[in-house]
Amino acid sequence: MLGLSSQLRTLRYGRSIVSLVQTGSTNDEARAAALRGAPDGHVVCAEQQLRGRGSSGRSWSSPPGLDLFVSIVDRPAIALPQLPPLTLAVGLGVARAVEALLTAAAQVQVKWPNDVLLNGKKCAGILVEASTSGTTVDSLVIGIGLNVNRLEFEPELRDIATSLRAERPGHAALDRTQALAELLAAVELQVDRFAALGPATIVADLAPRLALIGQRARCGEVEGVVAGVSPAGALLMRTESGTRELHAGRLLPA
Ligand code: BTN
Repeated sequence: MLGLSSQLRTLRYGRSIVSLVQTGSTNDEARAAALRGAPDGHVVCAEQQLRGRGSSGRSWSSPPGLDLFVSIVDRPAIALPQLPPLTLAVGLGVARAVEALLTAAAQVQVKWPNDVLLNGKKCAGILVEASTSGTTVDSLVIGIGLNVNRLEFEPELRDIATSLRAERPGHAALDRTQALAELLAAVELQVDRFAALGPATIVADLAPRLALIGQRARCGEVEGVVAGVSPAGALLMRTESGTRELHAGRLLPA
């Protein structure tokens, strides 16, 4: 991306970068690059994705020239069982970047496990995919879709999605290169904290910005009131049969 290197404040992320005009999915490009030996922190971004992927087999709407579709190759020194809450560290980083990019007051929240909400609507999604040998993580691809400048959404997204620009007074467009520099710096910082200190410090920082706390919601078969996230990164749901810890799934308002 033009002019990124002068704005980069990272040690690893984006020091090696490929910017594509169009691709199927930047996560697929990054995974192929990782298998070819791309350096730690290598970034693939694209102006448009034709087959942008979301979690649970859903697609990620990826129109050209407006938003950020970014995939980061990371080789953290963590084992596979420790991996699931890393998504929360990425979410915290994305939330911090969004706060830094928006000067006016805005409510930025993380909805467990992989959504970032801006004034109650989704502005970013995270898809972390691992290449493993046994319980060793060989490489990770951290995929982030951040709605930066979109003002129009498909009918099915209109009520639930937003962008940074849409939430700005006067709808002023943002500089996507600056947004990418901010995003990479904030996510690198939180992923490095997670690798060094584990999930508890990330969860403590997330606590004041968790979405749906105290509200009725459902995650898979489990329905109850969202109570928080455990120090290990599990979702805590208060149900009629007691508090349940959920380690994976999609949280939806009931
Ligand atoms: C979700 O909220 O379901 C996760 C969405 C992740 C989208 C990003 S865009 C960049 C990267 N490439 C993909 O195909 N998906 C991720």
